[in-house]
Amino acid sequence: MCGIVGYIGEKDSKEILLKGLERLEYRGYDSAGIAVRNGDGITVFKEKGRIADLRGAVDGDVKGNTGIGHTRWATHGKPSRVNAHPHQNTSDRFTLVHNGVIENYHHLQRDYLAGVEMESDTDTEIIVQLIGRFVEEGLSTQEAFSKALKLMKGSYAIALLDAEEAQTIFVAKNKSPLLVGLGEDFNVVASDAMAMLQVTDQFVELMDKEIVIVRKDSVEILTLEGETVERAPFTAEIDMSDIDKGTYPHYMLKEIDEQPAVMRKIIQAYQGEDEKLTIKPEILDALQIADRLYIIAAGTSYHAGLIGKEYLEKMAGIPVEVHVASEFGYNMPLLSERPMFIFISQSGETADSRQVLVRIKELGFPSLTITNVAGSTLSREANHTLLLHAGPEIAVASTKAYTAQLAVLAILAAVTAEARGRDLGFDLIQEMGIVANAIQSQVDMKEEIEKLASDFLSTTRNCFFIGRLMDYFVGLEGALKLKEISYIQAEGFAGGELKHGTIALIEEGTPVIALATQESVNLNIRGNVKEVAARGANPMIISMEGQSEDGDSHVLPTVHELLTPLVSVIPLQLISYYAALHRDCDVDKPRNLAKSVTVE
Ligand code: G6P
Repeated sequence: MCGIVGYIGEKDSKEILLKGLERLEYRGYDSAGIAVRNGDGITVFKEKGRIADLRGAVDGDVKGNTGIGHTRWATHGKPSRVNAHPHQNTSDRFTLVHNGVIENYHHLQRDYLAGVEMESDTDTEIIVQLIGRFVEEGLSTQEAFSKALKLMKGSYAIALLDAEEAQTIFVAKNKSPLLVGLGEDFNVVASDAMAMLQVTDQFVELMDKEIVIVRKDSVEILTLEGETVERAPFTAEIDMSDIDKGTYPHYMLKEIDEQPAVMRKIIQAYQGEDEKLTIKPEILDALQIADRLYIIAAGTSYHAGLIGKEYLEKMAGIPVEVHVASEFGYNMPLLSERPMFIFISQSGETADSRQVLVRIKELGFPSLTITNVAGSTLSREANHTLLLHAGPEIAVASTKAYTAQLAVLAILAAVTAEARGRDLGFDLIQEMGIVANAIQSQVDMKEEIEKLASDFLSTTRNCFFIGRLMDYFVGLEGALKLKEISYIQAEGFAGGELKHGTIALIEEGTPVIALATQESVNLNIRGNVKEVAARGANPMIISMEGQSEDGDSHVLPTVHELLTPLVSVIPLQLISYYAALHRDCDVDKPRNLAKSVTVE
């Protein structure tokens, strides 16, 4: 979702800003812009579409060694050049980029900006006009900025330029992430360290409701009341090669291929000195005290949560509920006496999950975040964190983060089981090794899987996924993956449920992808396949060795029954990838989607 970059230093900022925005493309956006400041004032370039379109609109002759940039994912006002950021106030003195949503922008406009003509439909323009108005009334820029921030309700990350204060970028955040990067004779601003790794790996985290005065040789952090805050920088431990596509045509394919290595990395990361799997004692203690776990997540992470429930209940014996984050905060169920909350989030920034975390913290309940991003908001604000160790995931459609979530949940469940004196009856490290090899075997079968995608999905407008037990949850993820990137209308169903209504949609040739990896219900799912086939469906059965039958479309190698989702999802990821590719879709940056959804 929206991304911010900024640069102040001695070089021309344009290229650094544009490169930074390219690094943020993965978050999802529909328009982009930059503003650069030089002796002639501030020049704004913005365009609807991709950064490549913005590059075409930037005048190479205009130079400026201070600048800010933005990728916009439309919330208030449609995607257009006018609604793209940066926005300026009426006098053009102030120029601003913003991520987030200002909930009370109508009130602010009514109360403070009567008679001011707005150029755009955005809530963002209100902020910059407000600052302009307060400065006209006699405040300094910093005072005006601070006053505007105090009045604003909602989420924001902001970078502001003042044409009359050449040496400064004013920065602030609330709920939306923002970092300041440190360099020699320059400093930068970025929503995500990845955007500015090209120039520095030293970053300072900003906290909510601070104002930061960024100059080329200093960074001053202040509270809204003006008190100075000291904060040490951290080193962003991201390898540039992790965020390059290398020879791959798409990040998604690279990330699918990385999954065997991610499995091995997770095992290593969670092995203690005695080589046994280990989880910090304070996390285990918190889980032991809880009488019920509440998993909160969105999208793919929610699907991982459904399988996490199976792991935690079956292995550790703790009751678990799984909830969609955007609903939970506004419709909280009756909670148990000693609840503990587990937030699953690849990005660690999802606003829907964060609103739940804020609420349950107010209620005094303990929390654990399972995330791929160390230092992300959900990680910082929860009591405990478990990292996924999947490396940066750039493609919008989540693949390696999903399997990493399953692996970490399995480890958490297994170690908790042991702490509770429960015998698992299998060695998880050994079984995960078998899983890593099985995943490898699948990513090595790209040609066969591509053929399945083109045989079944090249012209269809819809597709159903069915499965029972854990296959059902994997089917939900398979359907989400397919619709996200190929725009085929896809739905996942419990094997027995499709016939209770949706079977009406089955027509001659409708693809139905059935997973058959759960031994105890193998015959049942095959019965469900017969029901749809009898009505004209074109079934693709993905089964597992030992349970396969002649005519199955694809057979997976055997892994431990609890760990089948880690393997059965791989052909579904690849089928989605190839379906999207054959339909000429933008695989890594599907329409309307954002990687990190920082608005509710
Ligand atoms: C967005 C992405 C999904 C992702 C979901 C949750 O909607 O497009 O791919 O699953 O957010 O993201 P999180 O970072 O919390 O896992």
